[in-house]
Amino acid sequence: MNSNKNCQWRIARRPSGNVVHEDFEYHENEIPKIENGQILLKTLYLNLAPVMRMYMSGKSIAGEAALNIGDVIHGRGVGEVIESNHSDYKVGDIIQGQMGWQTYKATSVTNSEKFRKVPDAGVPYSIGLSLFGMTGFSAYFGFFSSGKPKKEDTVVISGAAGGVGSIVVQLAKTLGCKVIGVAGGVEKCGFLEDLGCDIALDYKTGDIASKIKEVTPNGIDLYFDNVGGEILSACLDNLAQNSRIVLCGSISEYISVEPYGLTNYTNLRKTNSTMQGFFIYNHMDDLDEAEKKLKNWVSSGAVKPIEYIFDGFLSMPDALASLYNGKNYGVALCRVSPGPYDL
Ligand SMILES: NC(=O)c1ccc[n+]([C@@H]2O[C@H](COP(=O)([O-])OP(=O)(O)OC[C@H]3O[C@@H](n4cnc5c(N)ncnc54)[C@H](OP(=O)(O)O)[C@@H]3O)[C@@H](O)[C@H]2O)c1
Repeated sequence: MNSNKNCQWRIARRPSGNVVHEDFEYHENEIPKIENGQILLKTLYLNLAPVMRMYMSGKSIAGEAALNIGDVIHGRGVGEVIESNHSDYKVGDIIQGQMGWQTYKATSVTNSEKFRKVPDAGVPYSIGLSLFGMTGFSAYFGFFSSGKPKKEDTVVISGAAGGVGSIVVQLAKTLGCKVIGVAGGVEKCGFLEDLGCDIALDYKTGDIASKIKEVTPNGIDLYFDNVGGEILSACLDNLAQNSRIVLCGSISEYISVEPYGLTNYTNLRKTNSTMQGFFIYNHMDDLDEAEKKLKNWVSSGAVKPIEYIFDGFLSMPDALASLYNGKNYGVALCRVSPGPYDL
């Protein structure tokens, strides 16, 4: 990889099943020149998220335009301003937003790119993709605004060892809830117990529906759903009265052709419960509030960033594929170029 070029990953073809190397095409171009009102960003970190495969499938999703073959893949990242012709930004500022899978970006900082400065928390600025990024904000608003948690709640979280899930686990413990995390495998369950879960359930061995029923004798008050499918169905079968389900994601269904198809959603009626969809881009006006609270929790040590870091821009395709095999603990991201507090 040439650090004097703008290196890019573009879509070579639509994925079928999980992404594979042949779905991506690597390019090297000249580093773009900036015009008046623009800044030049050098990529420090790029996020890896399940939704990226959907971008590659040609769907317009999560507020991003549909991608054509040959386009640079969408992706949020953290970049350092290395040149500026923009009055709001100076060289050395570190910001997060829509970078795309590339090592440099010239931008006029448009609303649709959703750039914001990353606060200095005395830790690497990768935190702009975890706690102070869309993953952290999703956990915060999904849990507090949609989930309306109470201290005495029994909370079940699926995908609990992933990016959003590992933050929701910590937020729920901060509030004092009983927290049941669901993840795949013994090691991930051990990680969840270390993170503070009262109970960790392995969905990959045995019958997850029976396990959930066994550990929630008084029912589930709040289910934070990252995965959809069988685990969502099992939680619907074990709701307490007036419970809440937050639909954050459905990763178990992203690479299947047919949707799962729930048959027991009427349990919501008999338990007087709600199931609410949630989308982080509907909370853009309130991100400062979330960032302030998260920053306080980071300073006090109540919440910590859990980041699973792949090294080097060339690792992006394999890193994305590994998300669907559940490789990551916490937020998956790629360190493209070391930034302040790194290493
Ligand atoms: N609504 C919004 O605004 C919003 C915002 C951000 C993210 N999301 C969604 O929220 C979900 C979590 O995002 P994330 O960034 O935390 O992703 P992530 O870091 O990749 O975590 C997802 C976790 O799901 C688990 N998983 C994968 N396949 C599974 C399956 N078939 N059944 C059960 N668990 C499975 C994986 O761990 P295991 O090893 O335990 O399987 C993985 O750690 C995704 O669906 C994402 O699209 C939504």
